[in-house]
Amino acid sequence: MAKKAKSFPIYVLNGPTLNLLGTREPEVYGRTTLSEIGKRVKERARTHGLDVVFRQSNHEGDLVDWIQEARVQGCAIILNGAAYTHTSIAIHDALRAVQSPIIEVHLSNPHAREPFRHHSFVSTVATGVIVGLKDMGYLLAVDAVANLLKDNNK
Ligand code: DQA
Repeated sequence: MAKKAKSFPIYVLNGPTLNLLGTREPEVYGRTTLSEIGKRVKERARTHGLDVVFRQSNHEGDLVDWIQEARVQGCAIILNGAAYTHTSIAIHDALRAVQSPIIEVHLSNPHAREPFRHHSFVSTVATGVIVGLKDMGYLLAVDAVANLLKDNNK
């Protein structure tokens, strides 16, 4: 893991319907658009000397492919799997094969919502989980990755 620190980007991967952030249920997810979150994430990563690959897809297979790409070309994964969080064994299995840090992020707090959002197939393989802090969660995840990579370099 240490060999990858800083020379490879953080993969920030976003699942279905997150492309509609800003207009989709703003009382739940906030008013910040996904492209604004991407901009802020890149700025924050830069302060740590880290690059970012920022992507969104509505398709489960894309997310699996990108997790596999991040496994060899990334230093860490920050994942908001959106609804696939609660359903996808395929994403769970892809993440199991990753050896670098995995931070699960959700804008809302799924535990305070409907029971079908209480189970996450990501949490059981994540290094850490950040929920309920809207877009701030993504920035805290970047800080967490930077710290984890530092610790791994000791
Ligand atoms: C979400 C929470 C999920 O339950 C939901 O399906 C989403 C967004 C969040 O960021 O709060 O699409 O991942």
